[in-house]
Amino acid sequence: MTPRPRPIALLALCSLMAAPALAQQVDPAQVEAGMTVYKPPIANCEPCHGYGGNGALALDEYGGKGTAAGPPLTTSKMTRAEMIEAVSCGFRNDWLTMPQYLQKAWTPDRPCGGKIRADMKTEESPILAGRPLTEAQIEAVVTYVQAFYQGSPMNREKCLRYWGDRSPACNIFTQ
Ligand code: HEC
Repeated sequence: MTPRPRPIALLALCSLMAAPALAQQVDPAQVEAGMTVYKPPIANCEPCHGYGGNGALALDEYGGKGTAAGPPLTTSKMTRAEMIEAVSCGFRNDWLTMPQYLQKAWTPDRPCGGKIRADMKTEESPILAGRPLTEAQIEAVVTYVQAFYQGSPMNREKCLRYWGDRSPACNIFTQ
């Protein structure tokens, strides 16, 4: 004869099933804090990646190469950990540059991809952002990028959250 499921076992099962859903919940305060970091004048990701995360052509104040093209964040396939690494360490190649936002990145304390600055040619070393971020600010901006942009196009509600009372800009969105 099969024993009836004991309530305590059921409870344990329910809490196991609930755990991953809870872990994915995004803290709205961190999204808000991340948006502030994303905008000028803090990290100023906006000129290169756009307020909608669609990517942009921006005047490049870092590489002195005239323009910088930031890729869309809406279609990024990066995991959270990879994004934190990207923002902390930055990128640089012949034609693209994204600032390094964590001051101690590329040091023996905090190597990037196993490398430190001394391993890099000067022209390959990412340029330190004018206003570096703390690790907490980097966590927040990545939470924002994932919640606001990654995998989801801009819409009226998000546009209004971004621009606040400069809402006429958001009339281009019907929903
Ligand atoms: C000066 C322009 C510039 C600024 C400012 C900038 N980025 Fe970037 N970003 C780039 C470029 C260019 C790349 C692509 C580099 C490559 O692929 O080699 C990039 C790549 C990325 C990626 C990787 C996307 C992917 O899937 O490949 C993320 C995430 C990102 N940026 C987030 C940010 C955030 C967040 C900020 C602000 C804290 C920021 N960026 C500021 C230019 C910029």
